[in-house]
Amino acid sequence: MRIGVLTSGGDAPGMNAAIRAIVRTAIFNKIEVYGINRGFAGLLEEDITPMSVYSVADILQRGGTILRTSRSEFFATDAGVKKGAEVLAEYGIDHLIVIGGDGSTKGAAALKKLGVSVIVIPGTIDNDMGCSDNSIGFDTAVTTALDAISKIRDTTSAHNRINIVQVMGRKCGDIALYAGLSGGAEALILPEVKTDIDAICERLLQGKDRGKLHSIVMLAEGCGNYMDYCVKIEERTQVTTRGTNLGYIQRGGSPSNADRNLACFMGYNAVMNIIRKTTGCVIVQRCGSYLGIPLEEALQMKKIFRQDIYEMASVLSI
Ligand code: F6P
Repeated sequence: MRIGVLTSGGDAPGMNAAIRAIVRTAIFNKIEVYGINRGFAGLLEEDITPMSVYSVADILQRGGTILRTSRSEFFATDAGVKKGAEVLAEYGIDHLIVIGGDGSTKGAAALKKLGVSVIVIPGTIDNDMGCSDNSIGFDTAVTTALDAISKIRDTTSAHNRINIVQVMGRKCGDIALYAGLSGGAEALILPEVKTDIDAICERLLQGKDRGKLHSIVMLAEGCGNYMDYCVKIEERTQVTTRGTNLGYIQRGGSPSNADRNLACFMGYNAVMNIIRKTTGCVIVQRCGSYLGIPLEEALQMKKIFRQDIYEMASVLSI
């Protein structure tokens, strides 16, 4: 039996740990593994190499992805998917494991429609996949954002300012929500919650009146650009307002303990699912368990916004 593995879309810390888990579980079970470089683009260009236990030595702790990644426009077409399935057949790859986010899951589902045996492992810092409580890379990105908030808070207090910290997440506010909660941000601006800028400013001024030296506002990228919010908030509060976009720093770095463990569980389970002949699914983590949910069903699942956590964060940061 031969498995192919690729990483696709935005890289996420812990992808390497997942690749390692896949390769080692496969080799332990006498299954061959081929690494497909540069995601679906590399599949179409036949950028494929056999992997061994040595290919994954010393990568558990590394950010990025040794297989590299891409966002392929051609693979999003019928002709692209057909070519992808042909290449897999040509290389004798019986099962494909895709590590990536929603876009990559759509690609995998298109391959499944053509009869390819495929499994997806959620890998994205955004944590925006409705099917899984957690995706690989999210915890590390939140930890990175938290570290940045702590540093920004020092200078914000020193100058008695407001500081807006913009984080990634596409249309999902999870990075802002969880980093804001653990970082004690005074306000959260998230795509899932209607923004009332006047109420936010009032809250910031109340904190200042009570003696707060700093105000941190977490802004999710799905709500717009921090520079626009700096202008609006400074105009209304008359308090000097600065901003920082954390950008790609959130995608790098050594994966956290939680992300390494998640990657180990998901990589191991992906191969075990292949051995048990239950493919065509996404390996998800739900309430602490790992299960396979059919790709089509997984794609339909809406991300549930944790309104309770948002409300708790608002209480804790008065
Ligand atoms: O999906 C992960 C992510 O980092 C998003 O948070 C962000 O919007 C996007 O990727 C950036 O993509 P790119 O690497 O193509 O600039």
